[in-house]
Amino acid sequence: MRRPLLGGNEGLMPDTAKLKQAREASALHGQDHLFRFYDSLGAPEQDALVDQILSVDFAQVAELHRDLVVNQSGTASQERIEPLRAKPWEDFDLGERASLANLGMRALRDGKVAAFLVAGGQGTRLGHNGPKGVFDIGLPSRKSLFQLQAERILRLSRQAGKTIPWYIMTSEENHAETTGFFKERRFFGLSERDVFFFKQGEMPTVDAEGKILLASKGRLSMGPNGNGGCFLALAKSGALEDMKRRGIEHVFFYSVDNALVRVCDPHFVGFAIQEGFPAASKAVLKVQPEEKVGVLCLRNGKPSVIEYSEMTEEMIYSKTADGRYLYDSANIAMHLFTRAFLETHAGASLPFHLAHKKIAYVAPSGETVTPTLPNAYKFELFMFDLFPMAGAMAGLLVRREEEFAPVKNKDGVDSPASARAQLLELHHKWAVAAGVSEEELKGKLVEISPLSSYGGEGINTALIRSQLGNPIIHVS
Ligand code: UD1
Repeated sequence: MRRPLLGGNEGLMPDTAKLKQAREASALHGQDHLFRFYDSLGAPEQDALVDQILSVDFAQVAELHRDLVVNQSGTASQERIEPLRAKPWEDFDLGERASLANLGMRALRDGKVAAFLVAGGQGTRLGHNGPKGVFDIGLPSRKSLFQLQAERILRLSRQAGKTIPWYIMTSEENHAETTGFFKERRFFGLSERDVFFFKQGEMPTVDAEGKILLASKGRLSMGPNGNGGCFLALAKSGALEDMKRRGIEHVFFYSVDNALVRVCDPHFVGFAIQEGFPAASKAVLKVQPEEKVGVLCLRNGKPSVIEYSEMTEEMIYSKTADGRYLYDSANIAMHLFTRAFLETHAGASLPFHLAHKKIAYVAPSGETVTPTLPNAYKFELFMFDLFPMAGAMAGLLVRREEEFAPVKNKDGVDSPASARAQLLELHHKWAVAAGVSEEELKGKLVEISPLSSYGGEGINTALIRSQLGNPIIHVS
């Protein structure tokens, strides 16, 4: 039943005060087009639209549009950028490596380490509709990215003799599918009590004039507010409180799309503890100067990351006296923050960055338009923008072939195929290092379950040899 906007029976009326407030706020900021189809909506949609409008900070949207779209003041030109050198893992001798691993393992055993996954992004570049973590990169086991991570956490928890809690940030659009996936698969053997899901915040999408787009006649076009939205979400959701209650002191942050991510790697945990800064980050050497990754850097003397899109030609190709690229330490989105640091800074205001995207919208005619060229701007927060607040941080340079197999694109570089090949090559190497010969493994694919080996330890060579008659060897 349609309801009158004003007057009539109070019980049947929408909340007129809310409606008035929403109309005024949108009119004040030139966003009254958001009511264009209001009268044609049913009552529940009208209410939902009003609530959505009231959740938007129009002044913030106007300011971001002015600063980032009109004045384009988000570029790094005014800042002093210098490289931040990550310490190569190779530089530690065997004794030092063992003691770092012990230090990390002790923290894990004492229940002081948690895993924190930012998984609110959209798999648009991958051409995958839905949470990226459910993606199957085509391994013989057909394990999803989520399962690989869950099993590494499970293995490490068993080795440490202590559960590693797992905090997973989703977004409005992928929350239900993500949680459903975990439930259907019984949390991959983890205890449901130790997996904590929460949603990140959202930001409206605007056109070149700063008008918020309509995703449908009764709904604003919103998107996740970038992976840097994780800090506020961590605090607001109660996850940070939960960490405190559990006695967590170190939080391992990582991205969903790395098939080789060593979640809560004890070496890295030990390294970060020994270095003693509130934050630490892992890096790998760039494969080539043009690689589309962010690099660790110092901005005005403070630790940070500079995205490839922000780097000048000079920065990309500058070399050191010994012939290395100056900005060679690629950000692989694996960071460790102390909980104390997160508690102090989770509410800090981070800068927004601009993304120009193709976003479908409802035109004034009421038709849905699917653009072929970028038509819309999104405002996003970046996780690494919290780094400067640490004052100083430690970087650890690790081997790409062992730790970084990104799944970003549909085909070619950083694709499911390249990640799969990299993982299988690593597992082949583990088998060889454990004593199975190259000759024996010729023409065979080896996949080792994270449940039986986290980083190449404890490889069951007898089990491998028992499967030499098969083209695919699966160590479960
Ligand atoms: C990111 C890094 C880049 C690094 C690269 C390595 C940022 C801004 N850039 O780039 O420096 O070299 O990884 O792989 O982090 N996500 C959310 N919510 C969002 C947006 C993203 O949770 O609103 C998550 C994604 O689910 C994913 C992670 O953030 O787990 C990174 O995703 P994406 O934004 O695609 O980063 P890249 O552009 O690949």
